[in-house]
Amino acid sequence: MNALDNGATPGILSVAPVIPVVVLSDSGSAVPLARALVKGGLAAIEITLRTEAALPAIERIAAEVPDAVVGAGTVTTAEQARDAARAGAAFLVSPGCTERLHGAMAETGLPYLPGVATVSEALAMLERGVTELKFFPASAAGGAGYLKSLASPLPRARFCPTGGITAANAPDYLSLPNVGCVGGSWLTPADAVETGDWERISALAGEAAALRPNG
Ligand code: 3PG
Repeated sequence: MNALDNGATPGILSVAPVIPVVVLSDSGSAVPLARALVKGGLAAIEITLRTEAALPAIERIAAEVPDAVVGAGTVTTAEQARDAARAGAAFLVSPGCTERLHGAMAETGLPYLPGVATVSEALAMLERGVTELKFFPASAAGGAGYLKSLASPLPRARFCPTGGITAANAPDYLSLPNVGCVGGSWLTPADAVETGDWERISALAGEAAALRPNG
């Protein structure tokens, strides 16, 4: 069992240094894709709820790839939070957070990473006891320099910056004390997913898995 927890103990952010953010157009690719990422060393996988294929993909991975920790991303409504939980998601990720969305994510009982981009948004989540946060859109909202500025005033917050992260700039974020992992779509290039180039995806995952947080 993976120790995922949204409270004081490290949870989603501690599974691996990188969470692949995946957009799938065909749920038939879900299982081989998840196996390729796990083989490379990345167990936490975020399937974004941007396509019809997403919920069936989560179901398949949850059922067939026991070593994967499959989550639902781009959760923007309460209904999506509930649907993702029913499909077997192990965690939820949202690009931002409202009162209603937060309530729905909390009610699922799953760990979740609410998206924040400002100090006040982060404070609102900390007030609710949520210390693991997605920083989105990371590079457009200020990048590693911005996050570094939050470490001292918000010592309890740990972030997963996502949005504009690449293999080249991931180490800048991972070297920060308040970053547990980063998220990004660079591990699953659309052409590799389309052609079923699982070896390439495993290789990209392997390089990412070798990155070390706070090191
Ligand atoms: C997203 O939700 O789109 C993620 O932030 C992925 O962003 P990226 O494609 O820039 O990695």
